[in-house]
Amino acid sequence: EKSGYEHFMIKEIHEQPKAVRDTINAYVKDGQIDLSETGLTDDFLKSLDQLYIVACGSAYHVGVAARYVIEDLTSIHIEVDLASEFRYRNLKLRDHSLVIIISQSGETADSLAALRLAKDKGVPTLAIVNVIGSTIAREADHVMYTLAGPEIAVATTKAYSTQLIATYLFAVEAARARGEITQEKADEMVTEMQTLPEKIERVLNDKDRIQWFAAKFANAKDMFFIGRGLDYAISLEGSLKMKEISYIHSEAYAAGELKHGTISLIEKGTLVVGVMTQSKLFEKTRSNMVEVGSRGGYLMGLTTYGNYSIEDTVNFTVYVPKTDEHFMTSLAVIPLQLLGYYVSCAKGLDVDKPRNLAKSVTVE
Ligand code: M6R
Repeated sequence: EKSGYEHFMIKEIHEQPKAVRDTINAYVKDGQIDLSETGLTDDFLKSLDQLYIVACGSAYHVGVAARYVIEDLTSIHIEVDLASEFRYRNLKLRDHSLVIIISQSGETADSLAALRLAKDKGVPTLAIVNVIGSTIAREADHVMYTLAGPEIAVATTKAYSTQLIATYLFAVEAARARGEITQEKADEMVTEMQTLPEKIERVLNDKDRIQWFAAKFANAKDMFFIGRGLDYAISLEGSLKMKEISYIHSEAYAAGELKHGTISLIEKGTLVVGVMTQSKLFEKTRSNMVEVGSRGGYLMGLTTYGNYSIEDTVNFTVYVPKTDEHFMTSLAVIPLQLLGYYVSCAKGLDVDKPRNLAKSVTVE
């Protein structure tokens, strides 16, 4: 079933162009977003004042990315929370709200409990779920399915990528329905979204370089992933991929926070990955990279083709194609998935079934 691949994880990494394409195609008709299957109407999207996005693990990282995207395109207020925290807060859910639960399995105990809590409080719910007929899908008022297909590796890759797409579709459609972007702008963004599968393919073609780079860090003790804005959301996911399958301690930091404590951990040779895909934040994060570099950090820069000046600052660069900057997570996460994967392989670990972890976390 691994179709010639060594592990399910690398097979699923390669299935991302298709998974992304299938998810877009499920909700785009004649070049325009159509969410009618989910029951989310224009009137409902117009009425929204507040979103609560609730999830665990990588699905939570999708929520962190989605907040930047939805916030930038619409006037809706957004809170993102871990399901295991959301449940125990004494949160006053506001009127005109929607609770969005993101879950690959649709069975995660804390995410399910958060969904039930929202329903008890009378707040409408939308589930972004991969497994058809799962408990979260059955109980939510509205469901948007991701079309990743079955995901076997414990470390999520293609489900994460399709969840991102679901949030882009929601963001663009909400903005259009509310009159916050024009139909033309929405159409243009859909056209750009449709180029993502081919661009992901191009990033995958670079995998040998990342494999070569990864092999040097098999004995690393610590790693850091830094970025601002959407690049911070990407860092969170890159760092989780690394720690869960390679057992290397890693942390994601909002680049501006480094100076408030963490920079003291940088020693000679510590790998620091700087994610710099957002043009208005590029120079800010670059100066943070200079700071860690001067403390001995070994620097990998992740940015878009064209930003070649980064080579003056970092030791190793990975470029990804340009796209609408709202969609950048979809491209920039790929090299980070590959980095985690190849470090794990270089250490000879059980990539698909990392110790102490389960694919679906049905206990609290
Ligand atoms: O099935 P879910 O999407 O609800 O699972 C949530 C997390 O357990 C999951 O994303 C986990 O963090 C992954 N193993 C990360 O690769």
